Amino acid sequence: MGSGDLVACLKRRTPLRHLVPALLLVLLVSSGGSALDHEELANVLKSMPPNGPLWRYGNVVMRSTTKKAGMAPVLFVHWSHRTRYTCRVCHMELGFSMKQGGTGITRNQYLAGNFCGACHNGEVAFSVKDGPQPQCKRCHLEDTRALQKAFDEFAQELPFATFGNGIDWSAALKEGMVSPVNSIGTDPPIKLAAKLKQPLKLGTSSPRSDVDFSHQDHYEELDCSNCHPDIFNIKKKSTEDFTMDSNIYGNFCGACHMKVAFPMNDCKRCHKSMSSQQY
Ligand code: HEC
Ligand code: HEC
Ligand code: HEC
Ligand code: HEC
Ligand code: HEC
Ligand code: HEC
Repeated sequence: MGSGDLVACLKRRTPLRHLVPALLLVLLVSSGGSALDHEELANVLKSMPPNGPLWRYGNVVMRSTTKKAGMAPVLFVHWSHRTRYTCRVCHMELGFSMKQGGTGITRNQYLAGNFCGACHNGEVAFSVKDGPQPQCKRCHLEDTRALQKAFDEFAQELPFATFGNGIDWSAALKEGMVSPVNSIGTDPPIKLAAKLKQPLKLGTSSPRSDVDFSHQDHYEELDCSNCHPDIFNIKKKSTEDFTMDSNIYGNFCGACHMKVAFPMNDCKRCHKSMSSQQY
């Protein structure tokens, strides 16, 4: 099959898009004009997990407390929530951890209006409370078929990306196709300092990596505290062991870009000058 056919299939959103990660990697390694050392590249690629079903990317299965209680595990879905709220709302204002299981949510806490209960109160969203028509099973999910169907309809209208949810969330945000609120609290976000509006050049230790990091784009959805000081030191080039390899194991950029934001498989979105332009 020619690469033109592949692109056409991608644009039509046929099931072939599931094959793309594998194909792309093969193309990358075999492309003669690659700006990267083949051995280096191959090592990085070998440890990269495949990108699974699109509807599942960013889902968090919670079973720490439910298992003992005999309830079905809770499935938290990022794609449905991030269209309405920025990361900042949950991962700053409401205090959710950015590590699976890190929050340690209990039923008593959310019934008192914390965590999921801050919104799932019967006013903003369906309630966590018991009653004549309890909604327990919408969160303690046993069957995911309806959710998969909802995803297909939802994703259809949004701009396409090759990996992750198969949705280009950055473009969707910029084009106003999603407009998540950035605060539900009383402390609105602070203004981004002028100095941080310049893109930050990363990866100078390895000239070919050529990555521009935009504080401005990230600050649209995140708070400073989501990255500083836990993930990155605030002093430029002071973050230790910040290499591509550690990224793909879920550190640094990979803390988000292997789990909720587009995954590291999507080389070109960070390495603008990488010569792999097969898609
Ligand atoms: C409506 C609330 C909500 C929003 C909005 C939200 N998250 Fe989350 N996020 C959660 C919850 C809940 C968890 C699971 C926490 C736990 O298990 O303790 C989570 C977990 C995560 C994790 C860890 C996932 C894993 O598999 O280890 C990452 C990374 C993350 N979120 C990033 C983001 C990013 C980036 C955004 C914005 C694009 C975002 N989140 C938006 C609620 C939210
Ligand atoms: C908005 C989503 C949501 C709804 C609706 C919901 N739960 Fe939960 N429930 C959770 C989350 C999140 C946890 C924590 C999961 C974990 O970490 O394992 C949880 C945990 C539990 C636990 C584990 C024990 C404990 O005390 O934490 C029980 C029991 C439970 N829920 C019962 C119910 C019942 C009964 C209903 C319906 C009346 C219900 N839940 C509705 C989200 C929900
Ligand atoms: C910042 C507000 C907010 C928080 C926090 C929040 N939700 Fe939601 N959630 C919503 C809204 C709004 C909807 C859509 C309205 C509705 O379905 O009632 C929704 C929809 C859902 C749905 C149905 C759509 C889907 O994704 O399948 C589930 C399930 C759900 N939430 C689970 C959870 C769980 C579990 C948590 C906590 C771990 C949580 N939510 C935290 C606002 C929130
Ligand atoms: C998505 C992650 C992320 C967010 C959110 C973020 N930063 Fe950063 N920041 C970085 C990275 C990566 C670096 C570079 C670290 C390094 O080179 O070791 C950096 C560096 C910096 C620097 C040094 C810049 C320079 O030119 O010397 C400052 C100051 C800074 N951040 C402040 C902030 C402030 C203030 C906010 C909130 C408005 C913020 N950051 C939000 C990731 C982030
Ligand atoms: C705390 C979470 C988080 C961290 C850490 C993070 N990002 Fe992001 N990044 C996001 C989210 C959310 C988006 C929006 C796009 C998406 O969700 O797929 C994004 C978007 C981007 C985009 C925009 C792509 C485009 O097509 O416009 C680039 C480039 C990017 N990130 C690079 C980086 C780099 C490089 C690092 C590490 C220095 C990094 N990010 C660290 C959350 C994060
Ligand atoms: C989310 C952004 C992002 C994505 C996606 C990404 N990279 Fe990187 N990459 C980086 C950053 C940031 C660095 C610089 C780390 C440093 O300071 O050396 C880097 C560095 C590198 C380096 C230089 C060697 C090293 O370890 O520093 C290579 C090679 C590389 N990346 C290859 C790839 C390949 C191949 C892909 C796709 C399979 C990819 N990258 C996807 C952000 C990304």
